[in-house]
Amino acid sequence: MKHRKNSGSESKWYLSTMFRTPNYRELLILCVIAMGMAGYLIYLMSLNYKPTEESKKFIQAESHGIHPRVNNMCDDTDLKHFPNESVDFRGFNNYTGYPSGCYVVPDIVHLIKFNQDEFNFIEMICIASILINHKPSRLMIHTNMFRFHGKYWTAIKRLPNFDRIRVVYLSKPKSIFGHSLENKYGSWHSSDIARLKLIQTYGGIYFDSDVFVVQSMHPYRRFEFGLEWNYHMNLGNQVLFGHKDARVIPHWLETYKQYNGSLWYYNGGELPTQAVLYYKPELIHRVRDKFGTDVKMLTYLYSTKDWAWQEYHVIHLFSRHQKYIFNESSVLNYHEFPIKQMILSVMPDYMYPTLEETGALP
Ligand SMILES: *[C@@H]1O[C@H](CO)[C@@H](O)[C@H](O)[C@H]1NC(C)=O
Ligand SMILES: *[C@@H]1O[C@H](CO)[C@@H](O)[C@H](O)[C@H]1NC(C)=O
Ligand SMILES: *[C@@H]1O[C@H](CO)[C@@H](O)[C@H](O)[C@H]1NC(C)=O
Ligand SMILES: *[C@@H]1O[C@H](CO)[C@@H](O)[C@H](O)[C@H]1NC(C)=O
Repeated sequence: MKHRKNSGSESKWYLSTMFRTPNYRELLILCVIAMGMAGYLIYLMSLNYKPTEESKKFIQAESHGIHPRVNNMCDDTDLKHFPNESVDFRGFNNYTGYPSGCYVVPDIVHLIKFNQDEFNFIEMICIASILINHKPSRLMIHTNMFRFHGKYWTAIKRLPNFDRIRVVYLSKPKSIFGHSLENKYGSWHSSDIARLKLIQTYGGIYFDSDVFVVQSMHPYRRFEFGLEWNYHMNLGNQVLFGHKDARVIPHWLETYKQYNGSLWYYNGGELPTQAVLYYKPELIHRVRDKFGTDVKMLTYLYSTKDWAWQEYHVIHLFSRHQKYIFNESSVLNYHEFPIKQMILSVMPDYMYPTLEETGALP
């Protein structure tokens, strides 16, 4: 109460200064306020890829373990370090991880949301699937927007474990090695780059906004870096997990020296598969048929009965590649195919249409 009264009289004070010549002291105060605001804006803009103090502390506690093996994270007895403090992964076993079975990847999930301040139904469902089926210690939503709004953001705020979500400012990369990203596919390509740099900054697990989490991702946190790379295919970059010092990331970023903005998946998948993974397969833990990054998911998810989706860890829903518009009421009218079961397995009670809305009341 007291506080509110104070701020009320303060605003009167500002008003009065507007109608007469301010004296020296008032000008000084206004200057200080203006400088403070400018400083804050510059700070927001400079957050680009730099972890905030809070997340730094969190990552340090997670990855170095002030006490031995906090949450089974690997500590100094498991890891070797270079003089510059980055982890020396030479000799790392990409098949088993460290013999002690400790985790190298911090339990942080990263999502990227560039140029959109609203969520759609499927994005809300996918966030619910992360919070319910993986339960990360942190879910970071990296965005160049200043605030989110809309019906599905309101729904997200009511999800269980919403308190683990942090919205973090991240500006959209505009160029790479002097190649501009302002082209037809630019907004997708800048997200391809940003996801690698996020893992390089924080470590953790990256999901595209239409990736549905079926089971916990903890078993993958034992590896330096990994992704799904099926037989006879290019790698899938919709799901990535890794330590910030993973050796494959600089190699992958290096391929952007040959950036081709007119090709959709050249630098996102084709080139890193051919130029990095073929030659250095030991740098990743290769996942096969567990992340649903193959386009055959379209058939399985949207038009196949009795497909065992529960056996996957995560599934890319390819939601932009199919035509049905899913929302909390239309999903109820969909055929009994896996996508419907998956959505309803995490759709919160408060999303179900009321009897009134479905017209079931007289
Ligand atoms: C740290 O040193 C190693 C070995 O020289 C090098 O490979 C790595 O890129 C360095 N890391 C950083 C962040 O400079
Ligand atoms: C990009 O790929 C297209 C199609 O293969 C090719 O015609 C074009 O020359 C490439 N551009 C660059 C800059 O390599
Ligand atoms: C581990 O690396 C080897 C190459 O050393 C590769 O052939 C194999 O597929 C990788 N295994 C996994 C599980 O990623
Ligand atoms: C759901 O989508 C259908 C079909 O596009 C539309 O008619 C309906 O109004 C939508 N309902 C909600 C609650 O958004």
